[in-house]
Amino acid sequence: MLSGKKIILGIAGSIAAYKAVYLLRLLKKAGAEVQVVTTPAVDHFVGELSFSTLSGREVFSGLWEAEWSAHVEIGVWADLMIVAPATANTMAKFAHGLCDNALTAVYLAAKCPVMIAPAMDVDMFLHPSTEANINQLTTYGNTILPTESGFLASGLEGLGRLLEPEKIMEKVEAFFQKGSLNGKKVMITAGPTREALDPVRFITNHSTGKMGYALAAEAQALGAAVTLVSGPTNLPAPAGVDRIDVQSAADMYEAVHQSVDRQDIIIMTAAVSDYRPATIAQQKIKKKGDGMQLDLERTQDILKSVGEKKTDQQVLVGFALETQNEVENAIGKLKRKGLDLIVLNSLRNKGAGFGHDTNQIRLIDRTGAIQEFPLKDKKLVAKDIFHKILQMITS
Ligand code: CTP
Repeated sequence: MLSGKKIILGIAGSIAAYKAVYLLRLLKKAGAEVQVVTTPAVDHFVGELSFSTLSGREVFSGLWEAEWSAHVEIGVWADLMIVAPATANTMAKFAHGLCDNALTAVYLAAKCPVMIAPAMDVDMFLHPSTEANINQLTTYGNTILPTESGFLASGLEGLGRLLEPEKIMEKVEAFFQKGSLNGKKVMITAGPTREALDPVRFITNHSTGKMGYALAAEAQALGAAVTLVSGPTNLPAPAGVDRIDVQSAADMYEAVHQSVDRQDIIIMTAAVSDYRPATIAQQKIKKKGDGMQLDLERTQDILKSVGEKKTDQQVLVGFALETQNEVENAIGKLKRKGLDLIVLNSLRNKGAGFGHDTNQIRLIDRTGAIQEFPLKDKKLVAKDIFHKILQMITS
């Protein structure tokens, strides 16, 4: 994900410096080039050799030991500077322009965006001066990452723990992905439909809309203008997303076709009812006898109807939930419905499908290439799907 990205990892003297070792590993594993820059106090916590070995570069730790202009060169070289952990002292220096060591000098020279992950004891973190410095740094356009609450090395408990390296990585990845769908319009269908039988009853299914909503949030984070056509769910619309609420398959068909021609990417996750009662009783149906027959008729296949009219510039993605012959069925759907990509999830996989927070998918594109993913949180699944779509758009 970070291949070719140049990142400065600034480390200040805190017990949390050991976590910077993990963060460095994650950054390198994701393909980034990383230049570690430290304050003199870091030496008390973690040896320089750990950082130079893992980064494959000499650590920039002393203003006087390196080339006199090293801080400027590093500052202009990077695409992103992350300071993790950032101590109260280092943030105070950043806020007031002091540059008495390698890290503070690089900070002042850096031309790239800066992300700061504070780490300190709860009382230091809550001190008004720290708060004022953090506010000051935000006015410079720096991103201040949240701290976590929990047990601190001092034995105290509260805010001030460094954000876990994995979470810092999520922010870094989001930073580089942000804007990659700028100017694009994305439509997503989500949730179940309700097909009325009478004024009090309907036919529906177990869909909760979680996957579609996670995709809408991800598209929004990537800079797209998002239209979410949603069947009834209990989920709040992600901030900034235009949600159109619908009930039946026919309502969803209408809402989709209102603006589908203007969309660049269309992803249909909704579990649309394939059949609906042939007539809707005006009054509540009263029970009669031992059994009853329901007359059902087909609903329109929304995905197929879009596949029939889509242009080559539009990317159309469908979902397939299968219980047997998964790949064969999914490829059949991809072809029949004119899709560019199909997301296959099998009910055979534990933790995948309706209602779960996790999903396990396979992505199959028009070439028949199949990518398999492990069971993941639906938010991460949404990232994988957009990663693939972005590759398709840009290749
Ligand atoms: N879909 C749709 N409109 C419908 C039915 C399905 O837009 N009336 C979309 C779903 O949102 C999903 C995809 O089609 O993206 C797959 O739906 P599914 O019901 O599994 O496919 P079918 O073609 O109906 O095949 P089958 O019922 O045989 O599984």
